[in-house]
Amino acid sequence: MDAPTPVVDEERLEVTPESLRAMRDEFQRFLLAYQFGLREVETKIGILRDEFLHLHDYNPIEHVSSRVKSPDSLVEKVARKGVEPDFASIAEHITDIAGLRVTCSFIADAYRLFDLLTAQDDIRVRTVKDYIASPKSNGYKSLHAIIEVPVFLSTGPVTVPVEVQFRTIAMDFWASLEHKIYYKYDRQVPDGLLLELKDAAESAAQLDERMQSLHGAIHGSPEDAGQIHGPRSIAV
Ligand code: GTP
Ligand code: MG
Repeated sequence: MDAPTPVVDEERLEVTPESLRAMRDEFQRFLLAYQFGLREVETKIGILRDEFLHLHDYNPIEHVSSRVKSPDSLVEKVARKGVEPDFASIAEHITDIAGLRVTCSFIADAYRLFDLLTAQDDIRVRTVKDYIASPKSNGYKSLHAIIEVPVFLSTGPVTVPVEVQFRTIAMDFWASLEHKIYYKYDRQVPDGLLLELKDAAESAAQLDERMQSLHGAIHGSPEDAGQIHGPRSIAV
């Protein structure tokens, strides 16, 4: 009788506990740099918020959330995007391993925080997608930037890309509902619901405009502080 075909190939059989541990450690070290990058950007946003509060007696940020992509989700994205599974390629092509979301009260604040953060000397802007000025066809709005921040390790400086999303409460409310619907229907959302979502996005945008002008009536027009409505692009 023929010997059963081995399920594991020869190369895999050579994996030892030590080599597995070394791979795990390398992966953890790779992700650690992103955690540090995120911490740097969180600090910057926190400083801008506190200074703003001190100067204007008003907090432009409703909340900030951040996450480092989970190993599972990173592995899934590497496979989906056909990125070579080595650290250099992953670092180059997957730019949302570190992600920060800044939810603001008003559209003007989202732009203002974007401008203040990206103007800082140690920040380099890689890409900007202004989905507030040019919403996605489904109605999605947010201002996205991939920025690079230096992190100083014992071995020297490393540059870490961080995806920062700026949006209003209304945009955030819409995006989280859309996200839930998208996954509930396994990405095949019925046309009727898509239309409803698009319509809801328009209502959210109208609410943002109304809240902005009410706010302007109390605090003075935000236009006075500079250009509020995008589009933002990469400064050269
Ligand atoms: P990903 O590869 O999915 O990260 O997107 P991308 O590289 O095309 O970048 P993009 O700036 O368009 O989107 C980045 C992130 O923005 C996503 O991971 C989501 O968090 C958010 N986002 C973008 N489009 C939508 C959308 O239509 N709905 C919702 N709910 N979130 C979105
Ligand atoms: Mg993403």
